[in-house]
Amino acid sequence: MSAQYPVARPRRLRRGPALRRMMAGTRLHPADLILPMFVKEGITEPQPVASMPGVVQHTRDSLRKAAHEAAEAGVGGLILFGIPEVKDARGSAADDPHGILQVALRDVNAEVGDSIVVMADTCLDEFTDNGHCGILTPSGDVDNDATLERYASIALAQVEAGSQMVAPSGMMDGQVGAIRAALDGAGHGNVPILAYTAKYASAFYGPFREAAECAPQFGDRSTHQQDPAGPLEEALREVRLDLAEGADAVMVKPALAYLDIIASFRAEVDVPVAAYQVSGEYAMIEAAAANGWVDRERMITESLVAIKRAGADLILTYWATEVARRL
Ligand code: PBG
Repeated sequence: MSAQYPVARPRRLRRGPALRRMMAGTRLHPADLILPMFVKEGITEPQPVASMPGVVQHTRDSLRKAAHEAAEAGVGGLILFGIPEVKDARGSAADDPHGILQVALRDVNAEVGDSIVVMADTCLDEFTDNGHCGILTPSGDVDNDATLERYASIALAQVEAGSQMVAPSGMMDGQVGAIRAALDGAGHGNVPILAYTAKYASAFYGPFREAAECAPQFGDRSTHQQDPAGPLEEALREVRLDLAEGADAVMVKPALAYLDIIASFRAEVDVPVAAYQVSGEYAMIEAAAANGWVDRERMITESLVAIKRAGADLILTYWATEVARRL
């Protein structure tokens, strides 16, 4: 045989669907997916979110129904976001036992809490009248330590309403430690914390601010969320701190534009790594698909496979139920 023919032929392992399926190194599983859901107080019909076709702000009833569908499809977890009727500077509804998020947690946990992990986003921006993630100083900065006290109280209210895992997303320094201490002090030492650890000040959150009605009225979140251009070491420092404060699992957010951070976390830490495929990632694919420019299902699957391949054990995605059904 003449030497001009290759001995090594990677194509041999790609010859048919059965061979490719067997050789696939990355597999999506419904239990790895977490569905973010919005519930709004005081509405009688689900409200579509214009910038996220297919996503709605739920009523209590429609939330229960969608939670059931996710559980039936085998989705691993739900993360709830609440939109209260009344907002104020301290986000009082966030830790009110009768606040919309606590009401929804009780509803959903009673209904599907045995078969799916029910959790809530722990933050203030959906609850403050100014749209900021914390308590403001007179000059309009987010007061880190005053905000920690609020987060501790909110986490406790959520857990007491049935949240099975606390997910603090505000990027305040010390938030994991403050919440851990509050939970432990109240006898909830067994409730894990999924920390939003490397969360970037991202334009990809645009559609979420419509869905959760939480756009900041002035300023932005760049004094607490990470700069997209910041060095990798900054993310690694955040992950070391969160683990030292007691985080049980860590998250990178957004996902597709931050695969390098996901891969670094996977290499550095020995806890589960989650990634949040955020609203803008969802909107980009839905918008391109609605225009007929891309193959919607293939693109959704490919984006999730890429996030998994980079090292995410868990993926938060608005497509969780649809994808779980397809798998
Ligand atoms: C904060 C929070 C945000 C998202 C999840 N939790 C908004 C923000 O930080 O500005 C964004 C999620 C998405 O874009 O899908 N409560």
